[in-house]
Amino acid sequence: MEKILILGAGGQLGKELASALNKLFDTQNIILSDIKPLEDAGFPTEIIDVLNAEQIIHVIKKYQITQIYHLAALLSAVGEKNPALAWNINMNGLMTVLDIAVDLKIKQVFWPSSIAAFGPNTPRINTPQFCVMDPNTMYGITKLTGERLCEYYYLKKGLDVRSLRYPGIISYSAPPGGGTTDYAIHIFHEALKHQKYTCFLSENTELPMIYMPDAIRATLELMQAPKDKIKVRSSYNLAGFSFTPKQIAQEIQKHIPNFQISYQPDFRQAIADSWPQSIDDSVARLDWNWKHQYDLSEMVKDMLVNIQKTL
Ligand code: SER
Repeated sequence: MEKILILGAGGQLGKELASALNKLFDTQNIILSDIKPLEDAGFPTEIIDVLNAEQIIHVIKKYQITQIYHLAALLSAVGEKNPALAWNINMNGLMTVLDIAVDLKIKQVFWPSSIAAFGPNTPRINTPQFCVMDPNTMYGITKLTGERLCEYYYLKKGLDVRSLRYPGIISYSAPPGGGTTDYAIHIFHEALKHQKYTCFLSENTELPMIYMPDAIRATLELMQAPKDKIKVRSSYNLAGFSFTPKQIAQEIQKHIPNFQISYQPDFRQAIADSWPQSIDDSVARLDWNWKHQYDLSEMVKDMLVNIQKTL
């Protein structure tokens, strides 16, 4: 029987991942943890600071955990505000988890990488699985280093660690936490509340994105794939669809005709400019049959309906 521990479950992905896992595993076998108390989680919860090995070990032993989803991290924009903290949480947190996973014979570990692992000399259109990677944000540096670390632990210690390079994840339930792609979520809330939005990226900044249901399905499909299908042990490219702020605004205007967008690029523009515009995920498609479902127009429709319900 699998017993799953989600670290950093208070973030954008945690709850959605837990409910998707709950279709496969009983509620009491999915343990949610975060550095802050998790309210109304609907699952067993624990407080865990990922830099505190003792806390992690205690919880793993308490529940006899077999799988870990290690989601605790600082994202790109907050990471640039506090690079030392981003390095500490993202890198030392990962290494702590990987070491414990080896010692306690955890069967599988999932760790998210990101499009931020690429950099200015990466081919920006249809970015291939293997290419130049020269991230210039602290977040991106921790993601690229983390990928190397994951592959190292697989090769040298036999740890079954699997990873995806998530594009910007768009979702309506948990709010995003300090990323550069967050505008693509804020825009919906502002469109519905005020019919206008000032974007912190310029109108033609194209970035790869994915809708939450696809991101979650990709994660579970990767984790459920037979071990011999997983040929990439650093992290798989993953794509949904790409768009610019102007294009998403036009799509929203189809539903809210008087919606208006204006642009005031800030420090996040430089981060976005160092990332790919679109991603080639053919290796994931080949190895474990990945295929996205949502495109821009379906995502926009679904986001508007669901955010409307919460207002
Ligand atoms: N969505 C993330 C960010 O913007 C990218 O991994 O930081």
